[in-house]
Amino acid sequence: MDYERAKLFLSQRNQIQLLDYYDQLDEEKRRILLDEIEKLNFTVVKNINKSNDKKKVGKLKPIQAKSIEDIDKNREKYEEEGLKLLRENKVGAVLLAGGQGSRLGFSKPKGMFDIGETRPLFIFEILMNNIKEVTAASGRNFPVFIMTSVDNYDETAEFFNSHDFFGYPKDKVHFYKQDTEPACDFDGKIFLSEKHRVSQSPNGNGGWYSSLINSGLNRVLEREGIEWLNVFGVDNVLQKICDPAFIGATSLSRTFCGAKVVKKTCPKEKVGILCEQDGKPSIVEYYEMPQELAQKRTRKGELVYRYGVILNYLFNVHVLNATLSWKLPYHQAVKAITHIENGETVVPKAPNGYKFETLVVDMVKYMGNCLAYEVDRNKEFAPVKNKEGVDSVNSARELLKANGYEL
Ligand code: UTP
Repeated sequence: MDYERAKLFLSQRNQIQLLDYYDQLDEEKRRILLDEIEKLNFTVVKNINKSNDKKKVGKLKPIQAKSIEDIDKNREKYEEEGLKLLRENKVGAVLLAGGQGSRLGFSKPKGMFDIGETRPLFIFEILMNNIKEVTAASGRNFPVFIMTSVDNYDETAEFFNSHDFFGYPKDKVHFYKQDTEPACDFDGKIFLSEKHRVSQSPNGNGGWYSSLINSGLNRVLEREGIEWLNVFGVDNVLQKICDPAFIGATSLSRTFCGAKVVKKTCPKEKVGILCEQDGKPSIVEYYEMPQELAQKRTRKGELVYRYGVILNYLFNVHVLNATLSWKLPYHQAVKAITHIENGETVVPKAPNGYKFETLVVDMVKYMGNCLAYEVDRNKEFAPVKNKEGVDSVNSARELLKANGYEL
């Protein structure tokens, strides 16, 4: 795209401010800016919801889960099926490490956080050790895809390199960058992050599959014959990755998707709830759940909507391919966005605009069905989200120690 076309194109979209500093740029920077403008997705900013109205939640019903008791009764059968699929190389893992980890306030990629007390023990290391336990049981290494943001790609890849991939075969690890969306002010005007760069941010963890395809890694999926992908977040240090029983139970239940769930501790716990929404298994975010439903209890005193998700899903690749043609909804997050104003970099203290994200929780509805697979939260859920308090470094350390880790 040349300057004249960009000018016309941006005027038509009310975004001409992106060329404010064009005259001050050298040739190379002009090219970078015009290329970025050409690739931008303007639809997200066009459709902003200025009033931030909450979306309607639809008709909700609780979901039946495979309970821990059911699973224990059938554990041998599920594990056998899961290990068979792992041996046949039908399963891969996807580590979501593209987040910004702002609540933790750690400047590097979250996986580089050292959670050890008397020795270094990095979050990435814990996750890779868990993967190695599974491959030792199945006798076969599976591919591990690691999604980073544009900004933390190099640091993440270098960290793995400098730690010799924590003993996992290097050729089985594939890094890729998450796609981005523009960030804008409350009126939908897209910011510049530098005079020649459009402000962009990761498109949310729902972008994991389209970004994997856009980065060309479908070649690996096809070459290896992968039929299932186990997707998980970086920050749960008790995460069980490619858990054979989970894989086996999902495959034998003939669903296209499985979600690990835990019983919520209280109605207000900040986890998405797996339930039926308008007749389909879906995840309703805690802030969208009507209070009276969140608090409703059975006669036995259990929460009716009790199953919270822990960001560990199994997705069938054939069905995922079909979902690529559907558009996941964008959630607009109100954020403080660093940008250029009057030629200077402004780092706002208060929110000044929107970033746009799709969420992995929304993918479940698109899969059509889902096995809710209950796990023991004390053994599989230790998220490192905050510096202190709930879901913090300290609470995760306590849970790790309770599970026999020496820190
Ligand atoms: P969170 O929702 O906790 O977001 O991510 P975050 O960015 O890591 O942390 P905060 O909210 O800024 O404190 C849940 C998981 O999804 C990944 C994260 O890396 C984490 O594993 N994620 C999140 C992405 O991979 N990309 C994103 O754009 C957002």
